[in-house]
Amino acid sequence: MPKHDMVIIGAGPGGYVAAIRAAQLGFDVACIEKEDALGGTCVRVGCIPSKALLESSEHYVQVQNDLEAHGVEVGKVKLNLKQMHARKDSVVKANTDGVAFLFKKNKVTRYQGTGEITAKGKVTVHGADGEEKLEAEHIIIATGSSVAPLPSIEIGGLIGTSTEALTYEEVPEHLVVIGAGVIGLELGSVWNRLGAKVTVLEYLDRILPGMDLEIAKESQKIFKKQGLNFKLGAKVTGATTDGKTCTVTVEGMEDIACDRVLVCTGRKPNTEGLGLENVGVEMDDKGRVKVDEHFRTNVEGVYAIGDVIEGPMLAHKAEEDGTACVELIKTGAGHVDYNLVPNIVYTDPEIASVGQTEEQLKDAGIKYNKGVFPFMANGRARALGHTEGKAKILADAGTDRVLGVHIVGHAAGDLIAEMVTSMAFGASSEDVARVVHAHPTLAEVVKEAALAVDGRAIHI
Ligand code: NAI
Repeated sequence: MPKHDMVIIGAGPGGYVAAIRAAQLGFDVACIEKEDALGGTCVRVGCIPSKALLESSEHYVQVQNDLEAHGVEVGKVKLNLKQMHARKDSVVKANTDGVAFLFKKNKVTRYQGTGEITAKGKVTVHGADGEEKLEAEHIIIATGSSVAPLPSIEIGGLIGTSTEALTYEEVPEHLVVIGAGVIGLELGSVWNRLGAKVTVLEYLDRILPGMDLEIAKESQKIFKKQGLNFKLGAKVTGATTDGKTCTVTVEGMEDIACDRVLVCTGRKPNTEGLGLENVGVEMDDKGRVKVDEHFRTNVEGVYAIGDVIEGPMLAHKAEEDGTACVELIKTGAGHVDYNLVPNIVYTDPEIASVGQTEEQLKDAGIKYNKGVFPFMANGRARALGHTEGKAKILADAGTDRVLGVHIVGHAAGDLIAEMVTSMAFGASSEDVARVVHAHPTLAEVVKEAALAVDGRAIHI
């Protein structure tokens, strides 16, 4: 029976990063993954392919709408969707191959199949060619999450999830997106740009629940201008298809006819078939694996990280969990600051946030000062032709410490990194405002928002 120091179940961003870090720390590591390709949902059918399509579809729109203003005239523009998908597939392959290369380089043993914990320190791999029994002192559950479909909707055919929406072979005439969360906005944007009519149905009276409301409202205005149709307060009660068209039913509204439905109403942790009941691993009331601050379950030697435990279901959060988990096992020290997990929506413009929203500060009764600066007033944004959006910094009224940053605007996903780092070092808005930011850069939007906290932005 093969014996390893550590067996990790799942090779997504949580599991594969944990495996590599554990190998660096000197553990004999094995990783069990059921798919052919490594990298998990993020790399195979999530973050990476969606970003590839977002990039390609943005080019398609820009070449039609924006180039003329730059003095660049092009002829008739034609969409080659097959090539767009081929490029996306090659981007995915480069990433999955990259993880395989890193496993080899770090001597991580790979098992293909589903992993089941059968007893303390024992895992069985159920592979295509039979079973293999492994022993390990430490077992890390990193099995991620999958789509949580609405109970009233059967997924199949023209009614699909993000996985199908990454591979439509034709541009839908009318795509109905259920859920105005991250996936709905990103993939809704892709197909809207490629020519589909897109209707986004959202149960709440706002888009992007959990994100700062002012920024969400500003984003919605921008997306509306781009052609996305929003129906808020729309509780979807069902969706059916006859194989050619679909009908979506919404409480208190008229039925909606369309030719594709994308269900993106959240995800649920993958805990089935893992044998958690064999060893008595405790779960919480949301079906997640219960862990302590060292990622330990109630069963000695069994740990869990990423989407299967509490916290945002984000690849970078899972990566940090994985790193901290194996460092804690090895050295007793390791830490993730969950208040500083940035959240990014890769639409155009991007939306990025870190720390507390204005609503959270109000609910907690924390007094704050607010600085807002529009991209419209930034020289580089004008030169780039990306003047939509704004940055907002929220700082403690007493200490000036930055408590939250929310940006909608070009490259917001990159701009937020400065503020995550600043906040990790306990920066005040004054600290950020005093730092020299190169001119002309979009980063000056953030500096000016920091100046605006004290009412002294220069360019507005
Ligand atoms: P989400 O939780 O972001 O949004 C789901 C939306 O569906 C919510 O606004 C919710 O109110 C709405 N909804 C629920 N039931 C409904 C109903 N019956 N009718 C109408 N609307 C309804 O979930 P999403 O977009 O599926 O994403 C899943 C996870 O994947 C999230 O945790 C997200 O953070 C993560 N993700 C992150 C990305 C990124 O970081 N850029 C990209 C894609 C996914």
